[in-house]
Amino acid sequence: MGHIIHLETVDSTSDYLRENKDKLDGFSFVYCDFQRAGHGRNNRSWVSEKGTSIAFSFLIKDQTILSFGPKITLPIAYVVSKAIEELGIEGTMIKWPNDIYIHGKKAVGILLEGSLPDYLIVGIGINANQEEFHGQFHVPPTSLKKELGHPIDIESFQRKLFAALEDSLLHLETSFPESYAYFETHDFLFGKKVSLEGEKGYHCRGIDQEFALLLEKDGEIKHNKTGEIILDE
Ligand code: BTN
Repeated sequence: MGHIIHLETVDSTSDYLRENKDKLDGFSFVYCDFQRAGHGRNNRSWVSEKGTSIAFSFLIKDQTILSFGPKITLPIAYVVSKAIEELGIEGTMIKWPNDIYIHGKKAVGILLEGSLPDYLIVGIGINANQEEFHGQFHVPPTSLKKELGHPIDIESFQRKLFAALEDSLLHLETSFPESYAYFETHDFLFGKKVSLEGEKGYHCRGIDQEFALLLEKDGEIKHNKTGEIILDE
């Protein structure tokens, strides 16, 4: 493992890593008690609450891992989902490409940034011990505490997660097929009707080997790699 850096407050753990990436080894993790200006996909903000949210990022520089490209999001989501299950929470599902939902509500957001083939920064936000949520959310949020009925030990959960993430990414030859098989039974979107970039009426039919989402409409299947997916009403 590289460095583990704890910051009380930071604008964004992912921005911090980007600014310091040349000085830090791969698998350096940065976590914080409060993230002032966290961001998510599609220029959305990611709202954290002091002391009750988990926000961390880590750096990937290993060429073998980077050669997998953006699909490493799958073993990452798998590790986080399994860690949540190990807390005793049932009903976790992965929403392609990399959110984790519990009983239809979002508990985890994962964001890959960087510049392939040089480096990637993986940012993970987990709603851990929040009791309520303030602000506007494009999908309803939940927290691990709300699902469990009691708070989790954030420090020990995070430490286990850091080790499990590194282990999984260093053994992609086994973790990638495992995570693929897991996704087949934990695919939140499977069979649902969705919009792709605002166009309604696609049916989700799973993923292909490159982790593109299979979308069916009018008897044709589209392999979608990057477009934003929203559930149709
Ligand atoms: C999403 O759901 O759109 C992804 C959210 C990712 C949030 C995490 S929190 C840690 C890291 N720092 C950030 O600014 N964003 C990621």
